[in-house]
Amino acid sequence: MNRTVITLASVAVACGAAVMISMAQPASPASKPSGIPGYTYGTDKVAKSPLRMKDLDALKRSMLFTDEDIRFLRMSKPILKDQTDAILDVWYGFVASTPELVYFFGNKETGKPEAEYLARVRARFGQWILDTADGNFDQKWLDYQHEIALRHHSTKKNQTDNAPSVPVINYRYIPALTIPVTTTLKPFLANKGASPADVDKMHAAWVKAVLLQAILWGEPYVRDGEF
Ligand code: HEM
Repeated sequence: MNRTVITLASVAVACGAAVMISMAQPASPASKPSGIPGYTYGTDKVAKSPLRMKDLDALKRSMLFTDEDIRFLRMSKPILKDQTDAILDVWYGFVASTPELVYFFGNKETGKPEAEYLARVRARFGQWILDTADGNFDQKWLDYQHEIALRHHSTKKNQTDNAPSVPVINYRYIPALTIPVTTTLKPFLANKGASPADVDKMHAAWVKAVLLQAILWGEPYVRDGEF
């Protein structure tokens, strides 16, 4: 992602117009960080996924998502940990400079981007990077994926942040975003001296992990019994 896009996003924010076969370890942390508004992972304020671990395992097998991918996701966590803000600058820069996408953060009356909504979602997005890199794809994680799905869908969009925005993110954009999200992540994976071969494997694991989530987030959009 080039500097122009990042600058565009910074300017937009500044002027208020801004616009995953489980492994045994490590275990899921006992508690997730609190203090991020609307981040309810692991609490009773999370929808229950209609899927069970066997369904997730079947899906992972179908996309060649293996324990090795989990290992490389976990390898990425210390690399990404102190770069999440810079990553989010790039991702938000892309959204800010793509009118079709920033629309979904816009006011439903005026179309103007809702800066507070963008900022609140950004904080949870930062946490999501670390949760994905944790690779603890247990039932709690699966449930939170369903919660995130509902938050993109008309069932729950806007509710978490009480945002006066448009009512739904049209599903077709969700898997589409897998590509910019994972393509722009790669340089960050390479920033801390990992070998090119490890960077490629971490990147491949991230592509699978984000695609897996984009698939899971499709559940509310698909007719009953057909997901
Ligand atoms: C690979 C695709 C995507 C990823 C990884 C992603 C990631 C996320 C995450 C982590 C959250 C916060 C979840 C939480 O509440 O904890 C979120 C919410 C949100 N995302 Fe996405 N997203 C994707 C696709 C999209 C697309 C295509 C749009 C359209 C611009 C979008 C717009 C939003 C909005 C508006 C929210 C807030 C929803 C609400 O009202 O609660 N996302 N996304």
